[in-house]
Amino acid sequence: MKIGSVGVLGAGLMGSGIAEICARAGYDTVVREVSPELADKGLRRIQGSMARAVEKGKVTAADADAARGRLRTTTSLSDLRECDVVLEAIVEDLAIKKETYRELDRICKPEALFCSNTSSLTITEMSAATARPDRFAGLHFFNPVPVMKLVEVVRTIVTSEATVETVVAFARSLGKEPILARDNSGFVVNRLLVPYLLDAVRALEEGVGTREDIDRGMELGCGHPMGPLRLLDFVGLDTTYAIAQIMFDEYREKRFAPPPLLKRMVLAGRHGRKSGRGFYEYGGKA
Ligand code: CAA
Ligand code: NAD
Repeated sequence: MKIGSVGVLGAGLMGSGIAEICARAGYDTVVREVSPELADKGLRRIQGSMARAVEKGKVTAADADAARGRLRTTTSLSDLRECDVVLEAIVEDLAIKKETYRELDRICKPEALFCSNTSSLTITEMSAATARPDRFAGLHFFNPVPVMKLVEVVRTIVTSEATVETVVAFARSLGKEPILARDNSGFVVNRLLVPYLLDAVRALEEGVGTREDIDRGMELGCGHPMGPLRLLDFVGLDTTYAIAQIMFDEYREKRFAPPPLLKRMVLAGRHGRKSGRGFYEYGGKA
């Protein structure tokens, strides 16, 4: 199937990055958010990221303008009716995702493909809410989307071969390098990364080291570009908490259980960079 137009659900941390790279790759891209304010906020994030890319000479001003011309936002799902593929990056909540897919399934053309950017839910759980499980796959990007080369392409036992081939070719057209993952919670990378991130919170709780030393330890000792606590702030503590609960529910092993400190920080509104404060301060502004 030829992909010409893309719909993106969610213009948050990930949805805005996904929409940006689709528009820069030449796809007409419509981004749906739940309110005009959040749609505008996502568009501003995309403009800022593209302006930075122009500054760094990674894209010409003309190409950035052309990409901006391919982008539009909406709050109405029906504006995605003609999209060839819908990339979903809404909040990590199964009920909200299933409800959205149920509605979208009735709106979009039968041949449209649905791809979820979920970190930890299984694709099967979402595709079961639609009449197109054969045209449903996972397409898991990494944060920040314009920078990280990897995407995980996730097939369920029902995803068709044609869908997998189309999604892999589409990922490559975005300049990404796909790996194939089975439909287990966390796929490949998060199955390994999430227990590591949660253990860093447990180490902080147990007083193994200060937040700075835990981060510096992994940055200087293991060459990580960001220590685990700084990375948690970057990913979002609210999203990580949701991911941990879903993975613990799937695997029932302590290493996936969200530490009490993480839960309390989320309840206290300390969601990381996105809320202006997490393990570190970010000038108080979201
Ligand atoms: N958007 C676009 N470009 C960005 C960017 C953003 N948000 N942030 C940084 N960049 C670009 C910069 O323009 C810069 O480009 P050049 O190298 O061409 O100049 C490059 O990335 C490096 O950026 P900086 O020099 O500003 O900062 P840095 O060297 O500290 O790199 C980083 C920033 C790329 C985020 C780096 O710290 C990093 O790779 N961190 C680890 C990120 C990571 O592990 N991501 C995976 C998270 S897990 C996940 O995503 C899965 C899930 O389901 C939760
Ligand atoms: P986020 O909180 O930054 O953005 C989620 C956005 O979804 C919000 O702007 C919210 O308004 C919007 N939204 C909620 N319900 C919606 C609906 N019905 N229709 C349209 N928009 C809706 O979250 P995020 O970090 O961008 O994560 C989004 C998804 O991507 C999650 O499934 C997450 O697990 C996954 N993911 C996150 C990361 C990361 O590092 N944050 C990395 C890979 C994958």
